[in-house]
Amino acid sequence: MKRIMYISTTTSKLSDAEVEEIGRKSTFNNAKVGVTGILLSAHEFFFQILEGREEDVDQVLERIRRDIRHEGVLILKAEHDVKQRLFGNWSMKTVRLDGISDVLIQAIRIMLENITESHRIIERYTQPAVLQFMTEGINPLTVPVMKREQIILFSDIVAFSHLSGLFPVEEVAALVNLFLDTCSRKIVAHGGQVTKYVGDCVVAHFPPDKSDQALHACLETLREIKVLRQSAGECRLQRFLYCGFGLSKGPVIEGNIGSSIKMDYTVLGDIVNLAARLESLTREIGKAIAISESVRDACCEAWEFVRAGEFQLKGQSTSQPIYTITDPLVDDIKTYQAILLEAGQGNCDLPVK
Ligand SMILES: Cc1cc2nc3c(=O)[nH]c(=O)nc-3n(C[C@H](O)[C@H](O)[C@H](O)COP(=O)(O)O)c2cc1C
Repeated sequence: MKRIMYISTTTSKLSDAEVEEIGRKSTFNNAKVGVTGILLSAHEFFFQILEGREEDVDQVLERIRRDIRHEGVLILKAEHDVKQRLFGNWSMKTVRLDGISDVLIQAIRIMLENITESHRIIERYTQPAVLQFMTEGINPLTVPVMKREQIILFSDIVAFSHLSGLFPVEEVAALVNLFLDTCSRKIVAHGGQVTKYVGDCVVAHFPPDKSDQALHACLETLREIKVLRQSAGECRLQRFLYCGFGLSKGPVIEGNIGSSIKMDYTVLGDIVNLAARLESLTREIGKAIAISESVRDACCEAWEFVRAGEFQLKGQSTSQPIYTITDPLVDDIKTYQAILLEAGQGNCDLPVK
């Protein structure tokens, strides 16, 4: 049997009658498939435990996830091979905690509210891969390090360190957030995972059969930041938002790397270094995307690949052919000198020489 425990947040204030109706329906549906558990509600959150046959629990959870009365379903714990039910007598006991004045119940409500709040915060700081393991009932700390084929994506803002000194701190931070958000949304939408952020740099990985999707993520980001530039005010930092992408493919070491102070679930190796070098090369070749031969070879769609040249990149033992694609968006990149020149012109009064 399987047992899962999750928290979620209501999308609007629910009346007692509405919570009762959820409980009534849950009891009825769960009884049919032998799923048991408990549903606690208080103010704006739900806490639920579901237990039963693996496929039945998964099906009920699938329906619950789609319910628009709540959002942000976060699995706190998933257990497999459960031998004994904790709530065998209840196909779904529903309790509204804030309707009970008992001091002990109120203490439990406060405790659950605090747990919910701290999990929501931790969730924002946690790598998606780690959350995914927890959703599947796997303790991320026990996952062994492995070597596997991945596509690595590197991206960052052109001339960022130069530009960041010219604008107010708030505007610099807002631009980095905007860029990281745009890029990350495209990566996730195309089946990739954000590995980490290093300043204004995004590191992500895609499964080895998703070269086309990785390229689409790059192009869509370029399209969106072009709109962001065009919609920015006259002397705003956002007006100078350009970025480059490096894509490489090969075996990487993936897993828990860190210390007793902080753990990262990350990727390491020569291929990761290559993606970073390719990203730097975008400035040199004047194209916003630079890819290795292995990425080009793994693409299935009819891209117009162009050989940008043969390069001996730092950290690489031999020189290798580097490719880009023909697309106006890929040509839409500037050198940092050109960006700074543009920033210094007009009425902006920026201290650029
Ligand atoms: C917090 C929450 C918990 C729920 N728990 C269950 C549940 O345990 N079982 C269930 O069948 N539906 C549950 N529901 C309701 C489902 O989301 C969905 O509305 C219902 O299963 C649809 O049933 P129907 O197809 O019979 O109309 C829950 C909804 C919410 C908001």
